[in-house]
Amino acid sequence: MLETLDRLDWELVERAQETAARAYAPYSLFAVGASVRGKSGAIYAAANLENASSGLTICAEAAALSLANSAGDPDIDAIAVVGFNFTDGAAGASRVVAPCGSCRQLIAEAAQRANGSVRVICCNGELSSIALWTIAELLPNAFGSENLAASRRWPALREELRACVQRLIAIRKKL
Ligand code: THU
Repeated sequence: MLETLDRLDWELVERAQETAARAYAPYSLFAVGASVRGKSGAIYAAANLENASSGLTICAEAAALSLANSAGDPDIDAIAVVGFNFTDGAAGASRVVAPCGSCRQLIAEAAQRANGSVRVICCNGELSSIALWTIAELLPNAFGSENLAASRRWPALREELRACVQRLIAIRKKL
């Protein structure tokens, strides 16, 4: 599905492409960059981080979502993903990459946190091919926090967490 993107989406795509240069991918030789924009307007972009113990590999999408969360800016409405095999030159950059199953699950929860839908902008390395899906299309009927009764306590517990950290900071500053 080839779509025309507006200026903000293009900016996301370009940041994802640029950040793919930071991939640590000595095992797969597949570089991925992903980027999200928080409500503040800031863009959080990350690359995949591989590990000799393969199961520890962190996908670019997971890293970008984690950056936005840690910055206190987790509400996103789109994620751009650019991926390519960098050892095959242009041929390796011609195929669109869509998020893996684990990342679809993470994006689905990001959508739920933001009380909205998340568009997933999937690109090849050359940006000559772009597919636009919603996360609900990529992961229909997702398992989510609604399945877990305890998650209803989170809004109150999040406030408690913040107050707790403030108390800890106050204690540190008095030392
Ligand atoms: N990868 C991502 O970063 N995102 C995806 O959506 C697909 C896969 C990374 C993980 C690994 O470093 C490499 O691409 C090959 O699987």
